[in-house]
Amino acid sequence: MSKSALITGITGQDGAYLSRLLLDKGYRVHGVLARRSTDTLWRLRHLGVVDDVKLFDGDIMDLSSMIRIVEQSQAQEIYNLAAQSFVGTSWSQPLLTGAVTGLGAVNLLEAMRIANPKARFYQASTSEMFGKIREPAQSETTPFYPRSPYGCAKLYAHWMTINHRESFGLHASSGILFNHESPLRGIEFVTRKVTDAAARIKLGRQKELRLGNIDVKRDWGYAGDFVQAMWLMLQQDQGDDYVVATGRSATVREMCRIAFERLGINYEDHVVVDPKLLRPAEVEALLGNPAKARQKLGWSATTTLEELIAMMVDADMRRVERE
Ligand code: NAP
Ligand code: GDD
Repeated sequence: MSKSALITGITGQDGAYLSRLLLDKGYRVHGVLARRSTDTLWRLRHLGVVDDVKLFDGDIMDLSSMIRIVEQSQAQEIYNLAAQSFVGTSWSQPLLTGAVTGLGAVNLLEAMRIANPKARFYQASTSEMFGKIREPAQSETTPFYPRSPYGCAKLYAHWMTINHRESFGLHASSGILFNHESPLRGIEFVTRKVTDAAARIKLGRQKELRLGNIDVKRDWGYAGDFVQAMWLMLQQDQGDDYVVATGRSATVREMCRIAFERLGINYEDHVVVDPKLLRPAEVEALLGNPAKARQKLGWSATTTLEELIAMMVDADMRRVERE
């Protein structure tokens, strides 16, 4: 009998890549599909998996739907990827972010405790929890200092995952993932905003690109690499917490340079810093120390920032050309 998995947030960037990975490993994949008035299946379609996953109607904020789905799917592995994941929006919708990103995780933990306590649980934690960083390179032991309602909500979910592991003996793991991107990244995140704009500028469809703080640093990796770390965590004998990162950090400015150079353009001729796009509080710099993931999971990032941005720019060029 093949293994089965349940993914919340299956229609997001990571949900699509994780579905592909698990299907390739022979899993039966179930997903939670939150009702929307628009099509949210495009990423699953893009990776050719939309007909191979079984989708259940539900919402992470609705405990009864979570209990029902966990019961019906009887998945051995449950991945909680659902979130209001855009940091910028978390200031304008702090309560919704708390309900989805924070309490939502507890709904799923409770559904698992009630309906399938032998399953293994993955929580999508984040480097955003380090916020105003306390150490130059952040590891599992670095103190947290979240800087956004999103970071605060994720920190609650992170500690509740640990608390359920310690209180009830659940196999629950938390992946503290640093930024990871791909051609399937939402257009509101800075890498996709930049690669999409670079393609439009190259093709004469746009002249300038307005950005906020371009001196911030992020540790950017490829989503296709990072979902493998999620899976590896649930193959361990015990639940645990792991930092997943590349160990290299670059500024938004540097990332812009790489993206525009790919198309033979100078980013300085097109990028405009717009004070309206600055955040109320900023995470200035993130750099992950993935030593534990390397040692215990045998995981390390294989895609460089240059390769990642080239992949995204090329995909956006093809897409904009088709439009
Ligand atoms: P994403 O593309 O924004 O996907 C978020 C997913 O959550 C979507 O499938 C979305 O569904 C779903 N969702 C939102 N509200 C929901 C609700 N009320 N009920 C059920 N599902 C809901 O995010 P991602 O980049 O794939 O990231 C996956 C997870 O990892 C998120 O929890 C994110 O916070 C976390 N994370 C991401 C990164 C990163 O750099 N990508 C780093 C660290 C942690 P719709 O499609 O219907 O909106
Ligand atoms: N989105 C965006 N748009 N960000 C900009 C812009 C802009 O025009 N200009 C500068 N930035 C800066 C942001 O202020 C931030 O410091 C950085 O670029 C990255 O922004 P995002 O790409 O929106 O990602 P994020 O780091 O805030 O959050 C992402 O990574 C987290 C992990 O650290 C999201 O995927 C979160 O869900 C994830 O947890």
